[in-house]
Amino acid sequence: MDDLRDKYLGQIRDAADEGALEAVRLAAVGKKGEVALKMRELGRMTPEERQVAGPALNALKDEINSAIAARKAGLEDAALDERLRAEWLDVSLPTRARRQGTIHPVSQVTEEVTAIFADMGFAVAEGPQVEDDWYNFDALNIPGHHPARAEMDTFYMARQPGDNRPPHVLRTHTSPVQIRSMQATGAPTRMICPGRVYRADYDQTHTPMFHQVEGMAIDRDISMANLKWCLEEFCRAFFEVDGIELRFRASHFPFTEPSAEVDIRCSWEGGTLKLGEGDDWMEILGSGMMHPKVLQAGGIDPDEWQGFAFGMGIDRIAMLKYGIPDLRAFFDSDLRWLKHYGFGTLQVPTRHAG
Ligand code: DAH
Repeated sequence: MDDLRDKYLGQIRDAADEGALEAVRLAAVGKKGEVALKMRELGRMTPEERQVAGPALNALKDEINSAIAARKAGLEDAALDERLRAEWLDVSLPTRARRQGTIHPVSQVTEEVTAIFADMGFAVAEGPQVEDDWYNFDALNIPGHHPARAEMDTFYMARQPGDNRPPHVLRTHTSPVQIRSMQATGAPTRMICPGRVYRADYDQTHTPMFHQVEGMAIDRDISMANLKWCLEEFCRAFFEVDGIELRFRASHFPFTEPSAEVDIRCSWEGGTLKLGEGDDWMEILGSGMMHPKVLQAGGIDPDEWQGFAFGMGIDRIAMLKYGIPDLRAFFDSDLRWLKHYGFGTLQVPTRHAG
């Protein structure tokens, strides 16, 4: 019995892998293994002999089995250690040089505008770019014959033959979102809506697609004074230039009464644009008190509520703030331009930094 133990425990210790270990297991404690054969001999023993040999054989079988289990665990650990050593990887190695993407000035400025108006309690709204004629025009007090329709250089969507309804349009401004927003929230309400707008126009300061941000505030006692304060507050926060100067110029829009256009003082001297100095004025937005018919179109009672609204060119204020001379370059996807005028991903909007 001692010989058997020594033999098999030795073989178990020396087994180099799981296959060898399994062979030892079969030879020792398998059905036809040496221990099993010895157990068969028990039948031929005297009861006294059997009383001694039986438990001893069982104990030997247990001992061999647990030695095999221990050796097996040891082999598995060693295999894992070996694998970990072989597959070792330095996770702190630098990655391949990254392609240098940048945030487009339009995205950056949209974020900045949103952050500033959010601080003043304006929610961000959205509307469709393919817009219903009624939302883009009629609801804004621009009826079918109105000259403003022609002035807008509208892109019309194709109509199914036989469909006599007015065609959908690519929205010419973000103002239709005023109507959608009133319908969605009722009064009082405060929202801005940044987004793409479309007009058939192309030169140094016009592209067929450009960006506006609409603003709207409706409450019981809103006045032109609130509008002026809001816009001045915005411009001071946005442009971050001492001595920013705004000019409110009486104007006309079908959807506001009274209406004002706002210009900002600037200089183009030497081809570079400077804000707050010079004798030039650049128009940056249209604004006014919302026309009663517009409030009505949005389902709001003009005898009870008043509101101001404005529409501002995002690309224009981006050009002004960051000194970008040609609007068309915004949409050329020229990598050199994007690298030069683009922003880093971690450059947070103006106000959030403070
Ligand atoms: N929708 C006008 C445009 O695209 C801009 C505008 C002017 C918007 C006056 C307004 C406003 O909300 O009150 O030219």
